[in-house]
Amino acid sequence: LGPDPVARIEALIRDVPDWPKPGVVFKDITPLLADAEGFRLAVDQITALAPTPIDIVVGMEARGFLFAAPVALSLGAGFVPVRKPGKLPSASIEESFALEYGHATLAMHTDALWPGARVLVVDDILATGGTVGATASLIKRQGAELVHVAVLMELGFLNGREALAQTGIDAVSAVV
Ligand code: PRP
Repeated sequence: LGPDPVARIEALIRDVPDWPKPGVVFKDITPLLADAEGFRLAVDQITALAPTPIDIVVGMEARGFLFAAPVALSLGAGFVPVRKPGKLPSASIEESFALEYGHATLAMHTDALWPGARVLVVDDILATGGTVGATASLIKRQGAELVHVAVLMELGFLNGREALAQTGIDAVSAVV
């Protein structure tokens, strides 16, 4: 590991070829999480991407939680979870989005945000942008302001940033 924090973070993300299916190279963040210094660097680098002030950091189940919650603490902001369907106990809204085959749904409590709340979305990986796009819809439906999207890693070849820009979301940044 060298002195450059971004290079150190990158070195701790493991490529797993042919997982979960042949031809896919999975980006495994577990070595980064298990490295005390690397995990701290990752949280600090994501936090540094955030404009301030931020009222709420929204994180998406499950890997997004691992970074969004500590970033919320670093920013002095609250944390709101976006969950897969059937997990939230109180009144919720849902948003569905297309996957390569089929669709996925995400949910958020209806009382989680408020009009004008300044919201930062944090996730581990930006791939196609479907997850962030659906999360952005949940935020906007509650009248809150999506100020920025900060992710640990962007898979540029999947063009998530371009897909999000087409829906008016262009405040997006990635550490790696
Ligand atoms: C992964 C990742 C992002 C999302 C990115 O989550 O943590 O949230 O995919 O992909 P996209 O940009 O194409 O939407 P996954 O749905 O695998 O769930 P997990 O975090 O529970 O593993």
